[in-house]
Parts: sequence; C-alpha cells; structure tokens
Amino acid sequence: MSLHVGAAPGDIAETVLLPGDPRRAEWAAERFLTNPRRVNDLRGMSGLTGSWQDTPVTIHGSGMGMPSLAIYATELIRDHGARTLIRVGSCGGMQAGLGLNDVILAMTASSTNSPSSSLFREMQFAPCADWPLLRAAVRAAESRGITPHVGGIHSTDSFYDERPDLTEQLRRHRTLAVEMETAELYTIAARHGVRALSILTVSDNLVTGAAMPPADREQGLSAMFDIALAAAFAG
Ligand code: HPA
Repeated sequence: MSLHVGAAPGDIAETVLLPGDPRRAEWAAERFLTNPRRVNDLRGMSGLTGSWQDTPVTIHGSGMGMPSLAIYATELIRDHGARTLIRVGSCGGMQAGLGLNDVILAMTASSTNSPSSSLFREMQFAPCADWPLLRAAVRAAESRGITPHVGGIHSTDSFYDERPDLTEQLRRHRTLAVEMETAELYTIAARHGVRALSILTVSDNLVTGAAMPPADREQGLSAMFDIALAAAFAG
C-alpha cells in the first residue's frame, strides 16, 4: 500500500491502463478483463485488476491533469511494480483534418509546465513514447481497420485556455491535439525506465468546433482499450 494506491503487495499488474476517469476504469475492467477485482478506492480513485488472455492487467484512473497523474504513475511504478503504462483518453484536435473519434498515438508531448519542470530547470526535456509500444499500437490499430494519427501533442495545465496565441503556434507546428497528462506520464516513465504510451481519441476539435456528446464516447473508448491491450502484449 502506498499513500494514494491502497493496493496490497502483488495487487497491481505490471501492465497498467490509465483512463482519466475512475468510472471509465470500472467500465473497462468489466468489459475487457476476466474476474476484475477492486484494488484501489482511496479518494474514490478506482483501480481494478483482472486478467486479459490469462495475463494480469490493472486498469486504474489517473484523474485529470499532470499533478494527479504524476502521483498515481509514480506510486504504481515505484511502489507497486508497474512496468508498462498506457494512458487511454480523449483529446481536443488541433488540426482541421482530424475527425471526431479519430485515434491519435502521441509520439511526444509539449508542455509549458509540468510537475517535472522544476527538476529540469532551464532544460526543455523532450518526453517521448516507448518506441516498441508505439509501433505495436500502430500495427494493432491498422489490423483493426483504424489508421491512427501519429505525432506530437500538447499537454496543458488549463482546460479553459486563455492563450489562443499559444494554441495557434502549436497548431502551426503541426501539433495534433491537446490533452492534460501525457508529457508528465512520458517523463516519469523515462525516469523509472519503464514503458509508456498515450492512446487518445478526438472528443472535440478546436479548429472546426466539432464536439462529441459525452454519451457518444463509448465507441472510441472500446477501440482504444482494444488497441492498448494488443500493443501491451505484442511481444
Ligand atoms: N483541452 C484539453 N484537454 C482536452 C480537450 C481540450 O480541448 N479535449 C479533451 N481533453
């Protein structure tokens, strides 16, 4: 048991999928895992462990934003032995050509600030996805008839953004999408020498104004969990 993850020793699998929303963790565990059991409920943050094709998998909420994700990712790796962490989440498309429900695999993530910023001081660290995991996710998506967009995204601290100028510069530099967790996930994974990847679906598009009602998000979620599990165990 660690401060925010109340799991007993051995309760957390080496492979952890991280949706932001604890309810989604519960939903996905019921849908994708065999015999899921609750391993965390501290502060209402759900973590469940079950098996996928006879291999243990944990699905654990990360909460919203990098400070929340940093707490869970650090404890899951450092105190509970997680070795592969895959974020499964939504994002706002920053290029006009991105449609709702499109799948994005984040190769890297820009940020203006993150919990690790103070560690790097003047350094602008470039967080990057684990390459074999990214390659496996591309293959898993393509084999399911999905062509993923692969490239850089932006991890912001402010959902309600007051910097349209910054959004425009990121867009000009071909940033695919904005979300709130990946830059820190990749940085923490690098620090601990474990694998990480973010698989995202476009829930809204900042350029076109298209937006998906929350009730319609299930389809994209299923595809992401499916790709994440196939990629995690692709050998
Ligand atoms: N901004 C930040 N995070 C998000 C967005 C957004 O527009 N959409 C989904 N996650």
